[in-house]
Order: sequence, then C-alpha cells, then structure tokens
Amino acid sequence: MKEIHDFTIIDRQQLGERYFSLTLQHGGTMQPIAPGQFVEVRVEGEPGVMLRRPISIHDVDETRGTLTLLIQIVGNGTRRLAHLTIGEHLNLVYPLGHGFTTQMPTGSRVLMVGGGAGIAPLLHLAKVLKTKAVNSTVLLGGRTADLIPVREAFQPYAKVGIATDDGSLGYKGLVVDHPDFVGTYDIIYTCGPTPMMKAVARSAAARGIRCEVSLENMMACGVGACLCCVTDTDEGHRCVCKEGPVFDISTMKKWYQQ
Ligand SMILES: Cc1cc2nc3c(=O)[nH]c(=O)nc-3n(C[C@H](O)[C@H](O)[C@H](O)COP(=O)(O)OP(=O)(O)OC[C@H]3O[C@@H](n4cnc5c(N)ncnc54)[C@H](O)[C@@H]3O)c2cc1C
Ligand code: FES
Repeated sequence: MKEIHDFTIIDRQQLGERYFSLTLQHGGTMQPIAPGQFVEVRVEGEPGVMLRRPISIHDVDETRGTLTLLIQIVGNGTRRLAHLTIGEHLNLVYPLGHGFTTQMPTGSRVLMVGGGAGIAPLLHLAKVLKTKAVNSTVLLGGRTADLIPVREAFQPYAKVGIATDDGSLGYKGLVVDHPDFVGTYDIIYTCGPTPMMKAVARSAAARGIRCEVSLENMMACGVGACLCCVTDTDEGHRCVCKEGPVFDISTMKKWYQQ
C-alpha cells in the first residue's frame, strides 16, 4: 500500500563528488518494499523545484525500519537534497511502481547490469536474491571509477565485475563488453542509461535469456495520473511509474530495437 510519510535522516554518506546516500528511518511500521520499487521525494527549500523527484529504493532494513537512497547530483532538486543533514526530515510517497521478478528456482543463474545511478535498485535486488539461493553476478559500469559508487556493498551478495570507459577500474570498455556479460544466465536485470539497457536487452533477446529492464523516464505524479512518463511497448502505451518501472523485454521489442 502506498503511503506519504516524513522519514528522519539517520545517516548521510558522500560517495565521491557526484553521489551521496541518505538512510531514512520510518519511526513506525514501514510498508513492505519490493526490489525495483521507488519513492517520490518532496524537495523543500528550492522554489524552482515544484514536482517530487523519483528515486529508486537502494537498500531496505526491515528490522530497523529504514530505507536508503543513492542519489546522483544532476540538477537543482538533487543538489538541494545533497544539503540535507542527519536529523532532518524527508517526505516520501512510497513504495511506488512494479518491481523486479524475484521468484525463481534455487540455483538460477542471475546477472544484474547497472550503469550510473541505475546501480541504485540493484542492491536491494541482490540482497533479496541472496535469500533465494541463486547464483548472482553483478556488473557495474561508469565512465570512471568515481562514477561507480557503493561497489563494495554488493560483494556479500554477488560476484562483482566493474567496467569503466577510461579503464580507471576493472575492465576498460563498456559493461556489455565485460567478459562476464556473455556467461550463461537464466535471467538478466538491468537499470541505467537507455543505450546501455537497450544493448543489454538486444543481447539477452539474441541469446534467448529472459530480461527485465527498469526504465527511468521523466516523471511528475508518479502514480499514473498525468501520463508524462508513458513509454511505447509492444502492447501499447504504458505508464512507467505505475506499470513499470520494470518491464519484461518480451513486451519491449519496439523499444530495444530502436
Ligand atoms: C523510477 C526512477 C528511479 C530513479 N532512481 C534514481 C536513483 O536511485 N538515483 C538517482 O540519482 N536518480 C534516480 N532517478 C533519476 C532522478 O529522478 C533524476 O536525476 C532527478 O529527478 C533529477 O532531478 P533534479 O531536479 O536534480 O534535476 P533536473 O533539473 O530535473 O534535471 C537535470 C538534468 O537531469 C536530467 N534528468 C532529470 N530526470 C531524469 C531522468 N529520470 N532520467 C534521465 N535524466 C533525467 C534532465 O533532463 C536534466 O538534463 C530515477 C528516475 C526514475 C524515473
Ligand atoms: S508520472 Fe504521472 S503518469 Fe507516470
């Protein structure tokens, strides 16, 4: 069930120049959160930023009643959020959207491919998949090492591969050219820049591997009311905020073939 709630910031980490994380405590009973779901954050104190900003749920601790957001500073809204400090409140609408599929047989071979801020939803996914006893690999890509935050956080849950455009960390090149990308997998999940996700989807389709993509279209209402986030699927137009952000590529041929 969706809830609008004031969370309290209990931790803030600066992760290089462009990224930071906020850990937020509910203070009561938090709604269950599926991997791939997101929040709409109210940005206060920035008059030009009227609309809430969609941010993926990066991590969840049900016992403590906390969730963590991983945020890349790109404009006025995220820059304002970067100034928040421990003890301040953040108003969220959560949990939103339709997340990743996590039901699968024990021993399934899973690949998660994240680029830039698209890394964010994959940590909660990797943690939940660990409880299903699947065999997970995560590949994280970015232009430089600085732009791949929180890579260590994945290590308890998956084999981790890194690809950077400049070779400053891991494999030098695109994440889809990383040697682990072409392994044998039962399912591939991806979130990140659209060209990266389309390349992942095309490769998965060519290899007959099931694949889910998490789209990051621009959003306003976040609940399916304004239609500003619509994407064209093989089954017609779909609201990314409500019917996504996660889509199975079996319905997205038009999207990934463009
Ligand atoms: C479902 C979903 C989940 C997301 N999860 C995360 C996350 O976990 N962490 C994170 O850092 N970001 C995430 N984003 C992107 C984030 O919402 C935007 O970066 C943010 O809204 C930008 O707000 P701003 O006011 O700082 O920038 P604005 O001033 O609104 O925009 C600055 C620049 O960023 C571009 N931009 C804005 N929104 C997007 C977008 N959705 N996709 C691509 N470019 C955009 C604009 O075109 C502009 O060039 C997510 C987006 C969606 C739709
Ligand atoms: S953001 Fe309004 S319908 Fe999706």
